[in-house]
Amino acid sequence: MSHSYGFKQLERDIGVILQETSDHKAIIDKVKPLLEQLLQNKNLIPAPYRTPRPDKYAQYLLYKPDDEAFSVIAFVWGPGQVAPVHDHLVWGLVGLYEGAVVEKRYRREDRGQSAEPRYAIREVGEVTARRGDISYVYPPDHDIHGVSNPFGEPAITLHIYGADIGKQPRHIHDVATGNYRDIITRHDNEAPVYSSHTAASS
Ligand SMILES: [Fe+2]
Repeated sequence: MSHSYGFKQLERDIGVILQETSDHKAIIDKVKPLLEQLLQNKNLIPAPYRTPRPDKYAQYLLYKPDDEAFSVIAFVWGPGQVAPVHDHLVWGLVGLYEGAVVEKRYRREDRGQSAEPRYAIREVGEVTARRGDISYVYPPDHDIHGVSNPFGEPAITLHIYGADIGKQPRHIHDVATGNYRDIITRHDNEAPVYSSHTAASS
């Protein structure tokens, strides 16, 4: 029996938070210390889910409760792998579990009815996230970013979203034109690594 912070306790704690508030930023502020505890659990991600895919970043669903009020995902980034500029349309936190990634933040600006193109995607910041660092996203104004691993070693990021992000309709944005297209990014594993019906990592 591990005494590390695990998913059953996380489910209880997030349940309390979601009863207290529906404000995205308030939820993020309260979930952040929970993600900090998860990031300290060195045994959280089993070995088969730590290896990069050769073709793209890997997206593994670790845990979600029955009501899908949130989901916990591990992303594994091989050297040089990139996530295009995207939004989430739900609150989320991104913790750095292993290695490092670069996150670029963007804002979508309405240039006015007569402007062509009407919308512009502006880069508003860039940060290199290292072990223990936590970033966050929430709609509508703090929701667009791109993530990459330009380094020589694999990286693992640990994400908590306010929905099953593997089913969440959202968008990939074209920085050059301001246009976007619909996307759903499905998980690379069929079933969660940890079942909500077992005591694993509780
Ligand atoms: Fe993202």
